[in-house]
Amino acid sequence: MTRSSAPGTAFLLGEHAVVYGEPALLFAVGRRATVDVDTKETVGDDLPDSAYVREAVGRAREYTGEDTPLSVEVESEIPIGAGLGSSAAVSAATVHAASRELGAQMEREKVAEEAHAVELDVQGAASPADTYTTTMGGYTVVSDEKKRSLEVPDEREGFVVGWDGGSAPTGEMVDGVSRLVEENPVAADIVGSIGDLTRRGVERAEAGDTDAVGGLMDMNQGLLDALGVSSSSLSRMVWAARDAGGSAKLTGAGGAGCVVAYPANEEVLGAVEQVAEEAFVVGVSEGVRTE
Ligand code: MEV
Repeated sequence: MTRSSAPGTAFLLGEHAVVYGEPALLFAVGRRATVDVDTKETVGDDLPDSAYVREAVGRAREYTGEDTPLSVEVESEIPIGAGLGSSAAVSAATVHAASRELGAQMEREKVAEEAHAVELDVQGAASPADTYTTTMGGYTVVSDEKKRSLEVPDEREGFVVGWDGGSAPTGEMVDGVSRLVEENPVAADIVGSIGDLTRRGVERAEAGDTDAVGGLMDMNQGLLDALGVSSSSLSRMVWAARDAGGSAKLTGAGGAGCVVAYPANEEVLGAVEQVAEEAFVVGVSEGVRTE
């Protein structure tokens, strides 16, 4: 049996714009999806009803050239469809575990590539941001052109995540932005501005200037709101964090789901808790690994 786990992911800056070739700044969240893959003695697979798992197993088979029947079990601490990269984590952990169970030590870069291909197949449109980050762990900067890990000198206490208890389909949110960009050139300018503030944020994060990154997160939230991907419950959590002296924005596709807030002190956590279904502090985590 092979057990692999992969972390959730959060966008500090740049979701949606990353779909248009702009860079995004993310980190791997200290909540994980764990996947057990076992070789079966009997004929036929035993897989959960998840398109991501099925596609990931198919890709591991193609890579290894082995088609031994497999059973797969998934357990996840990551809320589903809520902006914390749950499907990317499941895809990466399944590719990682299944390829190993089938006898190949697939390299990290390849796991990231295959997990991205899984998301593309299942969702139709997906940037490599979540899949690269869940595979590599830590902080990352991802665009279509270039992907790299980022050293951030001051991690302090991590981040507050607030969840409104809801979820929204990523594909529909991405399509909504795409319609807006087609109809209105101002929306295309907003996408470009998100790219500009992300480039600045990457520079500031590398310099350890986390306060400046916080200010840019606030600005990014304003632009995401302008693109129509925030909601009243996301805004409530954002404003609770801000009123407590923090910076905050939604993470991921939006519509419903999670916000990420900073700094992770008692005031910000307490304020977000008041209006969220669930709020917790997360550290920055390691990427996909064998358990
Ligand atoms: C979804 O987690 C983030 C989006 O930018 C879509 C993507 O990057 O594929 C909205």
